[in-house]
Amino acid sequence: MMKALITGISGQDGSYLSEYLLSLGYEVHGIVRRNSVCENQQSRLEHIRDKIKVYYGDVLDCASLYNVFNIVHPDEIYNLAAQSHVRISFEMPQFTIQANSLGTLNVLECFRTICPNARFYQAGSSEMFGNCIDSDNFQRETTAMHPVSPYGCSKLFAHSMVCNYRNSYGLFATNGILFNHESPRRGSNFVTNKVVKTAVEIKLGITDKLELGNMDSCRDWGCAKDYVRAMHLIINHHTPDDFVIATGRSRSVRELCDYVFTKLGMKYEDYVVQNQKYLRPEELKYLKGDATKAKTVLGWEPMISFENMLDEMISHWLNALS
Ligand code: GDD
Repeated sequence: MMKALITGISGQDGSYLSEYLLSLGYEVHGIVRRNSVCENQQSRLEHIRDKIKVYYGDVLDCASLYNVFNIVHPDEIYNLAAQSHVRISFEMPQFTIQANSLGTLNVLECFRTICPNARFYQAGSSEMFGNCIDSDNFQRETTAMHPVSPYGCSKLFAHSMVCNYRNSYGLFATNGILFNHESPRRGSNFVTNKVVKTAVEIKLGITDKLELGNMDSCRDWGCAKDYVRAMHLIINHHTPDDFVIATGRSRSVRELCDYVFTKLGMKYEDYVVQNQKYLRPEELKYLKGDATKAKTVLGWEPMISFENMLDEMISHWLNALS
């Protein structure tokens, strides 16, 4: 039986990846950080809690990492642990760099010294591109990377270290460069789930306005369930490589609001107000990914549309809040 070790298992991607690997017959192990409210910590995992093995640890606590690696001896390592919120990375730059950059380095060192024959997947991000874009308005594996946030800088360091460990030590170390991917399990301070949850609250009379930052920025939004399948394909390819995972469609935050409010029988213009506190000191304006390499080399295709994904999120919040 193949053994997978997932850092960041309690996050959106960690929970969907666990479900997917269990469905493929894997033994799934994961690392969670101690939290003062333990119910919140593992809530995305409750339904599979008896099928996976979870260890307390932290990518910044090398002793805990070495301990878990020595117990599990994984075949596949998925490094998903991160401070993943871009705006918050401006408020906590040091922690963001520690967790995302040095944390990745710590996991790579465990991989190199304890189980060098395993395979490693790094959760890279389209935020690494910053405002770089090719002449056809797409970002792809060859596009320059000049990040515009502490989060983007932290992920670019991790991405580069993965390439370095692959080239220096011949390790099977891979990078996914994932564009935004969403689901009902998305944290509610990311824009998709914030818009859907608040629009449902307005519909139900629980609140009367939605405060947002920049409504003109554009993102390539895919569905998390499709993207964890890509992680597994990347780590199981015959050579270690880097892959962009994206839908190839870009929409503005305004278009996102329009779809969600219209679906609920409302007009977003009547409820959305701008609040400066949600603006970022420097904004990444436009993301549109070209996943041709993943499609041709790995046979990956996104299966869930933007609209179907938002419909699922709307149903989730209508059920949860009604
Ligand atoms: N979160 C948030 N809250 N974003 C807002 C708001 C708001 O109130 N108002 C406007 N936005 C805009 C942001 O400025 C950004 O342009 C866009 O909505 C998306 O913001 P997020 O959902 O927070 O995602 P992100 O693009 O910054 O980062 C996500 O995607 C990356 C991949 O590109 C995160 O999941 C990262 O971890 C991931 O790497």
